Amino acid sequence: MLIRLCYASTRNELANDLIEDLNAILNTARDFNGKNKIFGVLYYANNHFFQCLEGERSIVQSLFHSIKNDARHNSIIEFEIMNIDKISFKNWSMKYVQKCSKVDLFFNQLGYDSFTPAALNNAHLNSLLNELLKEKQTRVRKKVGLNQRGISSFL
Ligand SMILES: Cc1cc2nc3c(=O)[nH]c(=O)nc-3n(C[C@H](O)[C@H](O)[C@H](O)COP(=O)(O)O)c2cc1C
Repeated sequence: MLIRLCYASTRNELANDLIEDLNAILNTARDFNGKNKIFGVLYYANNHFFQCLEGERSIVQSLFHSIKNDARHNSIIEFEIMNIDKISFKNWSMKYVQKCSKVDLFFNQLGYDSFTPAALNNAHLNSLLNELLKEKQTRVRKKVGLNQRGISSFL
């Protein structure tokens, strides 16, 4: 049985460097998910994560158990688990999308200034996922030089 599980969370601000964390999370995710036929997307903006995980129910649920206990984030908001017939993010073991105007616009239309995962409800999820499906994947950039040019786009 295939399911789709989505949640939002708040990044633990006491955690390490953001770029290092994102790289580590994506490396672990792509390795494990690739081996276990898990697919999905991770979005990060304004100190919040939004993630969609798709795959076999038992694997997704046990992975989510580990993710919930991960000290790199907290205040997890879990959305309704959906049974699905097909995988939407089949091209990505974990697509990464960084703060983008389409998602900001989506939240503007809900009446918020920017990405506010707490405002999401189950009915909004499909529209948000469609935006994330269409959006280009972002490469997490390493810090460049002393002025850390590479991280400006996350701020
Ligand atoms: C926001 C976020 C998303 C994550 N997504 C995944 C994922 O898709 N797949 C994965 O294997 N680990 C993911 N992780 C890492 C897991 O939380 C955890 O580190 C990993 O499953 C190893 O767990 P273990 O040390 O208990 O074996 C994510 C972590 C965070 C903070």
